[in-house]
Amino acid sequence: MRLIFEGPPGSGKGTQAKKLSERRGWIHISTGDLLREAVRNRTPVGLTVESVMREGRLVSDATVVEILEERFRRGDCAAGFILDGFPRTLGQAAALDRILSRLKLPVQRVIVFEVRDEIIVERITGRRSCPVCQTPYHVKFVPPRKPGICDKDGTPLVQRPDDGEDRVRTRLAKYHEETEPVIPFYERRGLVRRVDGGAPPDEVFKSVEQALA
Ligand code: AP5
Repeated sequence: MRLIFEGPPGSGKGTQAKKLSERRGWIHISTGDLLREAVRNRTPVGLTVESVMREGRLVSDATVVEILEERFRRGDCAAGFILDGFPRTLGQAAALDRILSRLKLPVQRVIVFEVRDEIIVERITGRRSCPVCQTPYHVKFVPPRKPGICDKDGTPLVQRPDDGEDRVRTRLAKYHEETEPVIPFYERRGLVRRVDGGAPPDEVFKSVEQALA
């Protein structure tokens, strides 16, 4: 299946996309992960976007579309994909339409994770993730078996530089301003299903699976 996961920062898009990808074999494409990889590898794109991301602002449409097109060129998405954190503006939604119609792989469902802003701040400031396999944890809600260590590969967990409280508020404002208007774009096509992202992770996963039926 070809899916888009939309929702505010910290609404659980990455957590659920990873699990669904592992269960169903659909490719998980997170533009945030792709951009962070570019920053880590000190590529020309990475050097341009590093400060924008650290401040919690959105990377330009041109840059993020380019990075996504490059990802689709790997040619492994025909059996299904989950787009996590893209599109985030109406310009990106239009670009995605062009890319997917060229590949003849139209989007089949858009899952929107609804979580109140107050919950988001606690979730993001407590988030830790594995720098190798990208698995997300939370110090309180989704703790690793051994504190500070990834369950899957034993790597010490890290905190993202854009996960401080002030940055979270900037990212939330950007979400309400620029990304929420993308939802009606897909609603008009009858593709949107909303899930309560404020529930515990396993319950959210059940709601996601129901939304795919
Ligand atoms: P990106 O990496 O996409 O971040 P985001 O959208 O801000 O989302 P997050 O990764 O913060 O949260 P999530 O919804 O995946 O939640 P998670 O599962 O981790 O983007 C980062 C930056 O890159 C952007 O700010 C921008 O600069 C740039 N960027 C990326 N894409 C772009 C684009 N298309 N255009 C322009 N710029 C772009 O969960 C969060 C925490 O909560 C974790 O600790 C988790 O363990 C915990 N948790 C998850 N689910 C639950 C639950 N149900 N109950 C309790 N805790 C939970």
